[in-house]
Amino acid sequence: FAAVDIIRAKRDGQELRTEQIQWVIDAYTRHEVAEEQMSALLMAILLNGMSGAEIAAWTTAMIESGRRMDLSAVPRPTVDKHSTGGVGDKISLPLVPLVAACGAAVPQLSGRGLGHTGGTLDKMESIAGWRATLSPQEMTDQLSTLGAVICAASEDLAPADRKLYALRDVTGTVESIPMIAASIMSKKIAEGTSALVLDVKVGTGAFMKRADHAAELARTMVELGTREGVRTSALLTDMSTPLGVAVGNAIEVAESVEVLAGGGPADVVELTVALARQMVELAGLSVDPADVLASGQAMDCWRAMVSAQGGDPDAPLPTPRFREVVVADEAGVVAELDALPVGLAAWRLGAGRARKEHAVQAAAGVLCLAKPGQTVRIGQPLFELHTNTPDKFPAALADLDGAIRIAPAGTTVHRPALVQDVIT
Ligand code: URA
Repeated sequence: FAAVDIIRAKRDGQELRTEQIQWVIDAYTRHEVAEEQMSALLMAILLNGMSGAEIAAWTTAMIESGRRMDLSAVPRPTVDKHSTGGVGDKISLPLVPLVAACGAAVPQLSGRGLGHTGGTLDKMESIAGWRATLSPQEMTDQLSTLGAVICAASEDLAPADRKLYALRDVTGTVESIPMIAASIMSKKIAEGTSALVLDVKVGTGAFMKRADHAAELARTMVELGTREGVRTSALLTDMSTPLGVAVGNAIEVAESVEVLAGGGPADVVELTVALARQMVELAGLSVDPADVLASGQAMDCWRAMVSAQGGDPDAPLPTPRFREVVVADEAGVVAELDALPVGLAAWRLGAGRARKEHAVQAAAGVLCLAKPGQTVRIGQPLFELHTNTPDKFPAALADLDGAIRIAPAGTTVHRPALVQDVIT
């Protein structure tokens, strides 16, 4: 094969054959297809799309670019969750120990944040001593004993996706449903889980701003998983407003611990339980996660999981050196709180990174102190901004300008349902 023929075929709207896809992904992973050639192919795919057969072949080729993990030694049903990313989306933190406490094993291989959506590993690393890197043996052992692991994916898990994702990021080719689906599913299938629940976000703070696009992404991923023998379902969930109060790293850990202790914001609890119910069902278990959460067993599992990876569950979480509060300049009811500007502000304050090699600040972030539907009076705090780099306050405050809309008291606020659809 020659890369240029494959590029031309896709450019002219032809369907690529499985062997062409296998060859191009393999050769690209081995640095034998040049970055500029892969860039051209990615743009042709973005513009012309891919058939179901092409997406399946692309996904399989990415899985085969690395090692497929074998979790068959784990004596519990394995089930994982993946979120397409949102603002304040800390759900994995309470969810993994909750589902483990229900009797399943959750092999949660996570990433770090890039752009305005946070990464689970960045959040967990706010916990003193906690270690993201486990060997495959350590991971399987922990899964067998506790049923709960949150750790970094190893370098040999779908390495083609790692290279491709970095290239898509700088060539304007991230926003392709076939490529997002193949990217996510190649990693989750290679991880070796038997079942998977996808949390596909829709709204201003999500990759997919429109419900029909989110549904198409969800259907594409469910089909890919099912084809590979992974029992897969998807929830379409609202990401027009941040999840919970905390958007950042350490403050999201604190909020997750509140949920595990039986408290926490209602939306975080609702989504955690909804996802847990799906996971428990796919794992073939018959307990109600709401009861397990109330019993305190999920908290016990969280503490054991943190300790097993060197973390101290009782260590105080880092606090910011500087805080700034934004107050309401009118009274009324919060009609809208837009997720995207809140995510951007938290990112700018240091919770996220602009480049992969940057470090995040554990203590940076934004607390959303008034959520849609809530009544506020003049002078009431709306946001609390946290950072160790106070020169970032002006830009973060500018992000938040207009993020919240206050309507006259008594206005009925339409709030979209948190779980909008289930796709199986
Ligand atoms: N997350 C991924 O892992 N890949 C994508 O392409 C988009 C989001």
